[in-house]
Amino acid sequence: MRLKTLRLQNFRSYQNLMMTPPEGVTVIVGENGAGKTNLLEAVHLCCLGRSHRTSDDGDMIRHGEESAAVQLFVERRDGTHDIGVRLFLHERRKKLLHINGKNASRMGDLIGHATCVIFSPEDLSVVRDGPAVRRRYVDMLLSQLQRAYFYALQTYTAALRQRNALLRDIALGGSKAQLSVWDEQLARAAAPLVRLRAQTARALDLAANRHYAYISGREEEVFRVAYQSTLPEDEPEQAMLSQLQARRDEELRRSTTVVGPHRDDLRLTLSGRELQAYGSQGQARTAALALKLAAFDLLSESQGEPPLLLLDDVLSELDPLRRRRLIDRVKNAQALLTCTDRGDFIGAEPACVLEAKNGNLYNA
Ligand SMILES: Nc1ncnc2c1ncn2[C@@H]1O[C@H](COP(=O)(O)OP(=O)(O)O)[C@@H](O)[C@H]1O
Ligand SMILES: [Mg+2]
Repeated sequence: MRLKTLRLQNFRSYQNLMMTPPEGVTVIVGENGAGKTNLLEAVHLCCLGRSHRTSDDGDMIRHGEESAAVQLFVERRDGTHDIGVRLFLHERRKKLLHINGKNASRMGDLIGHATCVIFSPEDLSVVRDGPAVRRRYVDMLLSQLQRAYFYALQTYTAALRQRNALLRDIALGGSKAQLSVWDEQLARAAAPLVRLRAQTARALDLAANRHYAYISGREEEVFRVAYQSTLPEDEPEQAMLSQLQARRDEELRRSTTVVGPHRDDLRLTLSGRELQAYGSQGQARTAALALKLAAFDLLSESQGEPPLLLLDDVLSELDPLRRRRLIDRVKNAQALLTCTDRGDFIGAEPACVLEAKNGNLYNA
């Protein structure tokens, strides 16, 4: 995939910007706070419909403005794609989408036109933090791999919200009559999530295992990824119904749904030991990189071309060997790479170096 043009209007620190990166690696250097991550965030917004660092769209609107707009123009094997997103301060849940010349209403209409994988220092949380971060990693990847997954996830989330509202209502004395209807809705919605997550986890396991070995250079450390759910891949719907039945009292007591894919996790191990608890900082960092590289592989395979690569401040944290190996793995993709120090990108052979400064970009 080839990013031809990125346009920003009142997006974070940028009033008006147009960027036309060449093929290969574009390096963006600049001091802390210069607006480097803002650019990658704008690309992410056009690929996935949301920021990678805030859940409040209003944060992305330039202070003092009422709305912000981002437009991304990419060339792919199947032709060109033009993706526009406009955000509004006063209707935060409302985004206007403009896809290939037409207004679109559903976030699913945006997904898949441009795809990206972002690497950032916060990736460490995929290894270190709780299951929610790992679910988000899988959800982001699967949504980009298959739009149907994104819709399935929306359906499940809506059903879960309704069922939890009903449980709270019951706690306040409401009727239980509707509960079994929502059990069925939720179990039906859960099934595609469980199947696709289980399949994808197997593919991730294979790819991440290879990347870990290559980047760390340590063959004795075996990195594994496994899907963890109380629901089996075959007949998840039946299993969910019976688990809901079995835990009915607990759910009524706690007024929340305790069974289902919103409780799933990815188990990450290094030579059989839980990485979250036992891994060193270096091991955790390498595992996080391996997971992102695995996502990059899966997207490349399914689309027949690499996604856009967004590398945010990650090179400075790697020793020269790991840095070289990371660059080697992704050199066939177009990349936007940010750093604060010019020494950081040695070995990356950039096609273009830009400097972010004073809300603008300059040739450096
Ligand atoms: N909504 C906003 N309006 C105006 N400026 C913003 C907004 N959000 C962030 N900024 C500014 O953007 C800068 C941070 O940009 P960022 O891309 O994170 O920097 P870095 O180059 O360190 O990655 C800060 O100077 C901050 O004040
Ligand atoms: Mg930054």
